[in-house]
Amino acid sequence: MDRRTFLASAVAWLIGTRLSAGPGSTELLIDEPLIPQTYPYRLPDLPYPYEALEPAIDRQTMQVHHQGHHGGYVSNLNKALEELPSFQTVYLDDLLRQLNRIPTAQRTMVRNHGGGHWNHTFFWSILSPTTQEPSANLQRRISEAFGSWTAFRGQFLDTALKLFGSGWTWLILTSDGKLQITTTPNQDNPLMPVAEAQGKPVLAIDVWEHAYYLKYQNRRVEYLSAIWQHINWQRVEALIG
Ligand SMILES: [Fe+2]
Repeated sequence: MDRRTFLASAVAWLIGTRLSAGPGSTELLIDEPLIPQTYPYRLPDLPYPYEALEPAIDRQTMQVHHQGHHGGYVSNLNKALEELPSFQTVYLDDLLRQLNRIPTAQRTMVRNHGGGHWNHTFFWSILSPTTQEPSANLQRRISEAFGSWTAFRGQFLDTALKLFGSGWTWLILTSDGKLQITTTPNQDNPLMPVAEAQGKPVLAIDVWEHAYYLKYQNRRVEYLSAIWQHINWQRVEALIG
């Protein structure tokens, strides 16, 4: 363990209550963050070119979304962390899980921009330029939880369609190992204590208008149908474990 990793672990331990971790437990994220980054944060490259998701998502939307919106969250998160030296070595996952321990003066900034950085980094990673067929194993796991793959797709997309305003629709693995569809407003996510349902995110769709407005305007249903063809089901399955 290098010095930086050691310090991150030590501070995470100091600011948080260590929870017992078991199979499928989201508490494992304290030791194995999904996005193992600390301050200073940087905008990650996309794992594919901006035009890779066309025609579902056009190049301009991807570029503005990544460089403009996501880049803005990164720089504002860094500004907030400049004033919080004792939190600079804490993994982003842990900052969000321990939001209540962030001083009130910076908490909203960390919530909005830390959430924005986490959510978008995760989102890019679960999209695929090619259309993937979910494996038989993943379909079985999903069908056990939701009745059938078709029922899951319907429930997930309907939840995303009905989400009022800006936010995210998630598939999460709860601490008792169950799969659950949930939503968060703004840039909140299921790692945060403020989330209605907490758990390990395994799938997310951004339903902010900035994700689709240039091509689809107010037709969210068309955006959802199109982006569903670009989910990286291999990654979702690996996250479920
Ligand atoms: Fe977004």
